[in-house]
Amino acid sequence: MKQFISVNDLITPSQPNIGAAINDLAKKALAYKANPMIDKALGANKRIGLLFLNPSLRTRLSTQVAAQNLGMEAIVFNVDKEGWALEFEEGAIMSGTTVEHIKDAAPIMGLYFDILAIRTFPGLQNRTDDYSEMYVNQFIKYAGVPVVSLESATLHPLQSFTDIITIQEDLLANPLTKKRPKVVLTWAPHVKPLPQCVANSFAEWINAWGEADFVITHPEGYALDEKFTKGATINQNQDEALADADYIYVKNWSTYHDYGKMYTNDPRWMLTKEKLALTNNAKVMHCLPVRRNVELSDEILDSPNSIVTQEAGNRVWAAQAVLAEILKTKK
Ligand code: CP
Repeated sequence: MKQFISVNDLITPSQPNIGAAINDLAKKALAYKANPMIDKALGANKRIGLLFLNPSLRTRLSTQVAAQNLGMEAIVFNVDKEGWALEFEEGAIMSGTTVEHIKDAAPIMGLYFDILAIRTFPGLQNRTDDYSEMYVNQFIKYAGVPVVSLESATLHPLQSFTDIITIQEDLLANPLTKKRPKVVLTWAPHVKPLPQCVANSFAEWINAWGEADFVITHPEGYALDEKFTKGATINQNQDEALADADYIYVKNWSTYHDYGKMYTNDPRWMLTKEKLALTNNAKVMHCLPVRRNVELSDEILDSPNSIVTQEAGNRVWAAQAVLAEILKTKK
């Protein structure tokens, strides 16, 4: 694997089938969960730079732990708080607030590190800018080393890979009587407009995996980019969408078409016990952090149906499997 920006980075000449590639990598991740130190020598004398332009708890810590399990040194740099303000526009006249161009900074970081991992959030002001993924693409262009997304303007691949691992793990522990699980991505209320990246990415990965009946439910006006959702059933009636669900992925996102807006935070979209009763005793997932009793109720989060802690724990094994593949490709 040369980089990890989207699900498409799993495709290789030896494994061109994306669904099979996801399953192969998920097996490796679960093998690391069973035996975390088995590849301790793989990353010896290697270093990863974790660059944060935005806050994080899970991504930062799980990727550090994953790197250490592979024998790599991980150095965290909170660029937003501790670094020079970076300029990403080509040809910019830097007479404003930015101090250093990515064209100058990224190659230097590429000399310090064997892998660079980057978190950047969208501005939610201009869809074309955000969906161009300029920040991540400029790092890829100038760093000269493999780049891993720790969440970008439009996607969160380490989270989505984790989500599939978690579903697979749960299916192994609790087999269904039917062949394919029903997975529902439901919009949830929030107090402010959030990026679409977790929802986009979850849709992209579940569609690519191809082993679930996938339904997305959201209020009117919240349709996501079809590039990611194509293949899913869209139903704006949440109760209908939840019927017989086996896994419910709860997430808020702002509007995509009329970009970055919050049309509603209608509490009737929050998952409750009554809504869970419509499902096949569904397991409930969320990427976290979660606004309790806004996005998800205490009664759900504190119930046995919630697998959010297991899901967050699996972030380590997803990151470890991805970093290991990159290290093997680099050798
Ligand atoms: N899910 C997730 O990415 O969490 P953090 O923002 O805390 O890293």
